[in-house]
Amino acid sequence: MYQEKIEAIKAAIAKADANTPEELESFRMEFISKKSVVGGLFAEMGKIPNEEKRAFGQLVNGVKQIAEEKFQELIEKVNQANKKSKSADIDLTLPPSNHEIGGIHPLTATRQRIIEIFERIGFNLSEGPEIEDDWHNFTALNFPENHPAREMQDTFFIEKNPDIALRTHTSSVQVRVMENQKPPIRTLSPGRVYRNEAISARAHCIFHQVEGLYVDENVGFADLKNTLYHFAKEMFGKGTKVRFRPSYFPFTEPSAEIDITCMICGGKGCNVCKGTGWVEIGGSGMVDPNVLENCGIDSKKYTGFAFGMGIERIAMLKYQIKDLRLFTENDVRFLKQFRPIL
Ligand code: DAH
Repeated sequence: MYQEKIEAIKAAIAKADANTPEELESFRMEFISKKSVVGGLFAEMGKIPNEEKRAFGQLVNGVKQIAEEKFQELIEKVNQANKKSKSADIDLTLPPSNHEIGGIHPLTATRQRIIEIFERIGFNLSEGPEIEDDWHNFTALNFPENHPAREMQDTFFIEKNPDIALRTHTSSVQVRVMENQKPPIRTLSPGRVYRNEAISARAHCIFHQVEGLYVDENVGFADLKNTLYHFAKEMFGKGTKVRFRPSYFPFTEPSAEIDITCMICGGKGCNVCKGTGWVEIGGSGMVDPNVLENCGIDSKKYTGFAFGMGIERIAMLKYQIKDLRLFTENDVRFLKQFRPIL
């Protein structure tokens, strides 16, 4: 009689299956634990006549072993399935997701490169405010009151206070440095400047300049020329030529505009350089003694040179950008071209 029962249990074990930890547990409860059907068989031992006890015991132990083997098999199976489903979350054969790599804005890159070139030859960095007073932007720089030279730069004044304006050039930082430091001074001042101009491909009301100032005993025009020549070669390449064109600025005497050979046509003449082969990158000159005196520097003992260059202009030549507005429009198609090449 019990043989039939045992055969039925064996059949049930053979048929049983488990795919989840929960199903495994059900199997354990049904066939392995003390309270399971197999456990129950051991409890029946007492009811079995003595002469059959041995045969019964062997059968029961056999079922127990079958149940345990099956249980191990099912544990293995569930574990495997578990591993597979976990690794299915990460499919190593998929192509990587497309991470966009940022780039450095061409103006930032240009400013950094300019700083690097001048730092290597002993210039430090200085800054000044963008909202500036008349003294630092004009008067100390030898722009007499009501002098037409002030009209050279269309100024944004702060309403109701003609003494305060958005700085029209970084030359204001020269004044601040000279007021606060004693020569020798070798400083570079990059920054944003403002002019009340109509926005076009060549002009903007907000742009960037970098100012350079060198004041010491015996600083001469040759130092200015050599410094800017060195800069031009470092920035644009060895073959670059520099030309100084006599000019006028109230704060320098003599004054010169700095031209370099046109990067776009290599000096042959094109529409960017208007056929001349030369492009202007800034202004320069020997600091006017009046300016030194205005800032408390003895102009009998010290001389200096200064220069101011447009960062946009330099970036346009360097990267052959034809429209200044691209710098501020944040068009990713433009900006993406300056991403690092990996
Ligand atoms: N501040 C002038 C401008 O914005 C540029 C300039 C010219 C700066 C001559 C200088 C300089 O330091 O010496 O047009």
